[in-house]
Amino acid sequence: MSTEYPFAIIGGTGNTQLTGFVPVRTEWVETPWGKPSAPVLMGDLHGVPVAFLPRHGLEHRFAPHLINYRANLWALDAIGVSRVLALAAVGGIRPEMVPGSLIIPDQLIDYTHGRSGTYCESDTDSIPHIDFTEPFDSAWRAQLLATAENIGLTVVGHGTYAVTQGPRLETAAEIRRLERDGCDMVGMTVMPEAALARELGMSYACCAMVGNWAAGKQDRPVLQDLDRNMEEAKSRLNRLLRAGLSRWIPGPT
Ligand code: HPA
Repeated sequence: MSTEYPFAIIGGTGNTQLTGFVPVRTEWVETPWGKPSAPVLMGDLHGVPVAFLPRHGLEHRFAPHLINYRANLWALDAIGVSRVLALAAVGGIRPEMVPGSLIIPDQLIDYTHGRSGTYCESDTDSIPHIDFTEPFDSAWRAQLLATAENIGLTVVGHGTYAVTQGPRLETAAEIRRLERDGCDMVGMTVMPEAALARELGMSYACCAMVGNWAAGKQDRPVLQDLDRNMEEAKSRLNRLLRAGLSRWIPGPT
């Protein structure tokens, strides 16, 4: 197995392309689970080898409930990726989760349904009772936070990500319920992605990019300033990537 690209970024809404990324190779990886959202793009980001996979496809065609998460993670594993940074646009629920900011969540609650969330498909497969107490890799999260601290970048260091089914946004009452459940932000994509990464033994952390206040949190239309807020979050993300990438690449396993 090639380990030329042990590190991957999964792009989300607003991140179908990575600023500064120079692809040198693209590969449609065959998987037993069907087609990934896009070919894996392998290339150079700030002098570091990075594999990139936009989870919604190159033209943002796949809604969150239609993404082939199993094929996506399988494809990354197949090319030798062992560590994943998942970018995900979210709505902010708690006051610190201000649009334009970055969050490294430490917990999630899965409200999705009907998504294929495991590689265990038959009674001949071993049953993957993965330990999911900490759904995001703690050591990997700590590295992301250490990088942010080193460069004086404000990043919210923890929080619970509510994963909703979408593609519609939530009602104000649903957001109030998520808040009562202890959720700090809401998005649609880290599940089953995080669980599948754990089944494959990959180290997975998320950088949530706050695009809007969640429904009912302000009087204006929810997505009114989405593009501007995502641009702000992206410029923060670029600072983080530039500062950290060379240190985040895992060594040979
Ligand atoms: N809800 C769910 N998913 C999202 C949101 C939201 O408000 N913003 C970005 N992704």
